[in-house]
Amino acid sequence: MRPKHFLTLLDLPADDVKAIVRRASELKKAPSEATSQRRKTLGLIFEKSSTRTRVAFEVGMAQMDGYSIFLTTGDSQLGRGEPIDDMARVLSRMVDIVAIRTFEHSKLENFAKHSRVPVINALSDDYHPCQLLADMQTFFEHRGDISGKRVAWIGDGNNMCHSYINAAKVFDFELSIACPPGFTPNAELVAKNSDRVQVMTDAMQAASSVDLVVTDVWASMGQEAEQADRMHSFVDYQVNAEMMSKANSDALFMHCLPAHRGEEVSAEVMDHADSVVWDEAENRMHSQKALLEYLLEG
Ligand code: CP
Ligand code: NVA
Repeated sequence: MRPKHFLTLLDLPADDVKAIVRRASELKKAPSEATSQRRKTLGLIFEKSSTRTRVAFEVGMAQMDGYSIFLTTGDSQLGRGEPIDDMARVLSRMVDIVAIRTFEHSKLENFAKHSRVPVINALSDDYHPCQLLADMQTFFEHRGDISGKRVAWIGDGNNMCHSYINAAKVFDFELSIACPPGFTPNAELVAKNSDRVQVMTDAMQAASSVDLVVTDVWASMGQEAEQADRMHSFVDYQVNAEMMSKANSDALFMHCLPAHRGEEVSAEVMDHADSVVWDEAENRMHSQKALLEYLLEG
């Protein structure tokens, strides 16, 4: 039987994704009730930096009595040109599950195609589905069901934005995306979801009357050389108190982190007493634990 993979939010049935998010909240209340993964091993292959995703996976696996092995490009044969298909064939005969953080999404797909065990997208240039499990959990915990609510994505039409488009479909919310010209999300993905996703250039308009405002860095990992140019292009896209005042009075602000105060978000919004970004970060661990449990238990 082919293993289940989690490369995007659409890889699993919507009801299962919702169940993982519910389970994450249960595990948050009773961490030791997670199904034991004793003697199971998670292979982590990270070609980009990480704090939250890596620690969430490693701690989550440890709490379930399993192990993790962390590999970077530099300390595996991947960095010396071993084909990803071969790496998948070999590693998946040794470990029980794999999470990969990489550049091209096709690399993940290729790994998954040749893997005997489930593969999780720990972030690619195109998607970051693990983050969305935590974001949805955080919204549910603070405001209840997100179905029928309105969400604004402000800034770059990047991997996080693409995962928000998929989340709009799975969790049934309306999504207004504001991006500078030239930084819009994948047009095909937007077109497929045109019943609930709108793309515009006016950030204040996008934030109007929404229940959740979300942003992310202006230059993602791999785009460091564009940082200075991007600072100019995104200058009108900072989430600040003025922008939050356009949203509903009880609107939440989220950011996957790491954040750059004074760029995509003002320090005032980021450090507001009601900010849920720290819950959002903590929920990475509970939701990734729930995901591991789901994929390992079948
Ligand atoms: N949000 C997120 O994925 O954080 P890390 O890059 O620290 O894993
Ligand atoms: N868009 C960011 C998300 C970091 C968690 C990046 O890809 O670098």
